[in-house]
Amino acid sequence: MTIPNTRPSLMVKQLYDRESCTYSYLLVDAESQEGAIIDPVRELFDRDIEIINELGIELLYSIETHAHADHVTSAGKIRQTTGARIVFGEASGIQAIDISIKDGEELALGNYKIKAIATPGHTAACTSYFVDGMVFTGDTLLIRGCGRTDFQGGDPAVLYDSITDKLFPLGDEVRVYPAHDYNGRISSTIGEEKRWNSRLGGNRPKQEFIDLMNNLNLDLPKKINEAVPANMSVGINFDPNRYLLHDFDMNNLHDVWQSLPEQSLIVDNRTPEEYAKAHVPGSRNIPFGTENEHIDLFNQYQQVYVYCRSGRRAQTAFTNLNMQGLDHLVCISHSGMPNWIDAGYPVET
Ligand SMILES: [Fe+2]
Repeated sequence: MTIPNTRPSLMVKQLYDRESCTYSYLLVDAESQEGAIIDPVRELFDRDIEIINELGIELLYSIETHAHADHVTSAGKIRQTTGARIVFGEASGIQAIDISIKDGEELALGNYKIKAIATPGHTAACTSYFVDGMVFTGDTLLIRGCGRTDFQGGDPAVLYDSITDKLFPLGDEVRVYPAHDYNGRISSTIGEEKRWNSRLGGNRPKQEFIDLMNNLNLDLPKKINEAVPANMSVGINFDPNRYLLHDFDMNNLHDVWQSLPEQSLIVDNRTPEEYAKAHVPGSRNIPFGTENEHIDLFNQYQQVYVYCRSGRRAQTAFTNLNMQGLDHLVCISHSGMPNWIDAGYPVET
C-alpha cells in the first residue's frame, strides 16, 4: 500500500459573522504554522483568537480587503494580541497599518506567497489577495454580485475594469472567496462568475454595468457612520456610546474635570508653547506626534482625555493610539482650548 504524498498545504478556515454576513478567513501554512487572517470582525475577536491559539498559529498578518462600511474590523486588537502586522492596500492612506501593500506585491506565508491585486471600484483602495488557486475578493467580486459603488470613492467603471481585467484573467478554476454573502453561499469560481454573475457576467458591456450600478438606489449600510471612521483606525474597540467621539466637547470635559477621578488623565496635545500660554489645570502636555512614546503612561490610567485647539490633533492622536491597542481614550474632537477659555473655565499657565 502506498501512502499518499501529504505535502503541507494551505489550510483555509472560513469564519462567519451572522450579523453583517461577513466572511473572515484564516489561512495557515500547515508546515510552518504561520497564518494570516483576512477581514476579521470586531465582535468575533474572541472567537478568532481562540481558534488561533488552539491551532497554535503564529499569526503574521491581519489583512484587510478594504475599509468596510458595515462592520468594524478587529485588526488593531489582533495586532495588539498576536503581533500580527496589519496589511491594507496602498491607496487606503490609513496611517495605522504596518504594511501598505502595492499591486502585485507578495506576502510570504510559510511555503506560500499571498499576492495583492489592487481592485479598486467598490472603494478606491480595495485589494484582492491571491494565493494557492484562491482569490479573496473582499467586496470587489461577490458570488453572483459585486460591491456597490456609490460611496467611499466607488466607481462602477473602475470596478468593471478591476473585475474583468484583473480577476477574470486569473483563470476559470480559481476559487473565489468574497467578504460577504447574504444567501448562504460560501464560495464560487472565476469561471462561474464570468458566466453567471448577475451584474457583469455573460460579457455584459461596460456601459450597461455602469448604468445598472448607478441606478441601484441602495440604502446606506446601518453601521456606516461608525464603521468607516473606526476602520480607518483599524477598529480598536470604537464604541461611540463610550467614546462619544462627536459629542464630547470642552464643556463635557469641564464636567469631568470638576470631579476628576484619580484614575483619569487629561492630555493637552498641543505644542509646549501653546500649552504654556493656557491649559486645563492639571492637564499634561504630550505634544502631538509624541503620543506613541507615552503609551505606558496612558496605560496607567483608566481613562485618558485628549484635547487640543480645534480637535484635529486630538482626533489624529486618538486614532493613532487606538491603533496601538489603547481603548480607554476619550477624544475632544470638535472643540478645544479656545472654547474652554471662552466658557470662563479656570486656566493654568
Ligand atoms: Fe465593503
